[in-house]
Amino acid sequence: MGMTEKPASAGLSREWAHRLLITGGAGFIGSHVVRHWVRRYPETLVVNLDALTYAGNLENLRDVENEPNYVFVKGDIGDAALLARLFERYAFDGVIHLAAESHVDRSITDPMAFIRTNVMGTAQLLHAAKQAWNGAYAGKRFYHISTDEVYGSLGETGYFTEQTPYSPRSPYSAAKASSDHFVRAFFHTYGLPVVLSNCSNNYGPYQFPEKLIPLVIHNIRHRKPLPVYGKGLNVRDWLFVGDHVAAIDAIFHHGRLGETYNIGGHSERRNIDIVKTLCRLVDERLGRPAGEAEGLITFVQDRAGHDLRYAIDASRLENELGWKPAMTFEAGMALTVDWYLDNGAWLESVTSGAYQQYYEKQYGNR
Ligand code: NAD
Ligand code: DAU
Repeated sequence: MGMTEKPASAGLSREWAHRLLITGGAGFIGSHVVRHWVRRYPETLVVNLDALTYAGNLENLRDVENEPNYVFVKGDIGDAALLARLFERYAFDGVIHLAAESHVDRSITDPMAFIRTNVMGTAQLLHAAKQAWNGAYAGKRFYHISTDEVYGSLGETGYFTEQTPYSPRSPYSAAKASSDHFVRAFFHTYGLPVVLSNCSNNYGPYQFPEKLIPLVIHNIRHRKPLPVYGKGLNVRDWLFVGDHVAAIDAIFHHGRLGETYNIGGHSERRNIDIVKTLCRLVDERLGRPAGEAEGLITFVQDRAGHDLRYAIDASRLENELGWKPAMTFEAGMALTVDWYLDNGAWLESVTSGAYQQYYEKQYGNR
């Protein structure tokens, strides 16, 4: 498997204060992490390793692709030889690992892809870091980005804390849970300097429109049905992606080794309320009559094994590292709607081709 890089020598002609490997940097959250690091830390060389699956899109990074401290490598985290070459070439002192298959519905139809990337790929990356660092762990850090879904499903009350036992219920969350266990095993067994975080549902610009919020905005725009699973009563704890990035920065730099930090937005909403909020905002923005979009809401067959409720207790992160979400839910949603409506070309480009087939398969027969 090869690499495609902007000149092979890119990033190697000077000394850097730090050399950071970010995996999955062409995806939704990864692209925000890459942009943040490239701009905020000009003395850090950022190498983005991404396989460019359907979810990875270099359009997400056009504004930073020519920065001198940024290098893109197309490749798979499961490719041991490629990982060894990259660690040798760039001598990374940090890894932020976001690459994953991330969509629950896809994990229900194709669980093996999730096991390959989320479990095997993460293990391969851990192994590569261990081999390359070879016990010289001072100043090194391997940061694994995970999800609140590993904790399973809450009832009407309560919160996930870092002590909540793992109880994953979808192939996606089971694969992420497994990867978390491998990360901790490498810490306890080999002393690999790891840190982990488990975050709630993110939203914001550049999210692939298979996920609820961009899918609904896209469908309202095209006056297509808005598929709400079951009765729309499932609850998610929404966090603006920029607040996740701020937490990642704080944890990467100041989190305790071997520790896990929960990240959440204190913004629990039922799906039906999210969809209605989007209907109101998009109608207003497009100058359509109030209530028009709500007429598109269509209740469809529920997701298999659909977790009822997620809610995060982020007090460890707040108390230890002083993090708090900066964006209110209302401001974040308005900004997000504006971004998707102003970036119709991005939305159209990612929803052409293979997206149509996915959509037909997922929603066509419901
Ligand atoms: P995404 O699906 O938008 O992006 C994933 C990226 O990983 C894509 O660019 C894809 O090309 C890349 N990738 C997939 N398989 C790969 C492989 N084998 N090798 C290299 N690259 C590969 O995902 P996202 O929503 O940005 O999520 C990023 C991470 O954050 C994931 O680990 C996810 O579990 C976690 N997370 C996401 C959320 C959320 O709400 N989106 C919340 C908590 C945690
Ligand atoms: O909690 C963190 C997780 O959030 C991340 O780990 C995942 O990577 C991310 O995809 C997200 O998972 P969800 O399954 O919660 O997100 P999704 O946007 O797919 O769905 C949000 C809720 O909306 C969920 O209850 C299912 C429902 N839904 C989703 C879609 C796509 C619908 O009702 N209709 C839809 O068409």
